[in-house]
Amino acid sequence: MKNLILEGFMGCGKSRVARQLALDLALKVIDTDDLIEEEQGRKISNIFEKDGEEAFRDMETQALRNLLSDRERQVISLGGGMPVREENRRLLKELGTVIYLKADVDVLIMRLEKGVEKRPMLAGHDLRDRVRELLSAREMFYDAAADLVIDIGQDDPQTISERIIKELGK
Ligand code: S3P
Repeated sequence: MKNLILEGFMGCGKSRVARQLALDLALKVIDTDDLIEEEQGRKISNIFEKDGEEAFRDMETQALRNLLSDRERQVISLGGGMPVREENRRLLKELGTVIYLKADVDVLIMRLEKGVEKRPMLAGHDLRDRVRELLSAREMFYDAAADLVIDIGQDDPQTISERIIKELGK
């Protein structure tokens, strides 16, 4: 059986929806950011600071490759930049069904206002400009990787999980 994979921009709620979806479907849940932090024994902000973005992107690709050897079906929550690399999109196709949690810029900004310092792709920039810039550069990759697109609106994780399960059952 295929894994269920959640993609989307920072702040769209991937991790929380993944936990809810895993609970509702009695599956294991994992987060690629957590996998990388555990494997590296340090925070993502430290990886960016010490080794730079490219090194982090290589770690993300490696995390996807490692996940391919897991036998158990699971819910996988991705870091927001994961689908940008072509190789990652190819690996994601092998790994399972990709669900894009699509959110409006205003919703993302509201949720991202707290915790910018944990996100090196946002730190030191004007938040609104940066979210717009990154989102417009990435949207096509999210769309290209997605098997299912869920417009999250203002819905909570419980409702989003129910909507995903309904859509998958169609
Ligand atoms: C990133 C998103 C982060 C994390 C890293 C880079 C990005 O994950 O992988 O800070 O480039 O969008 P979340 O989407 O879980 O915040």
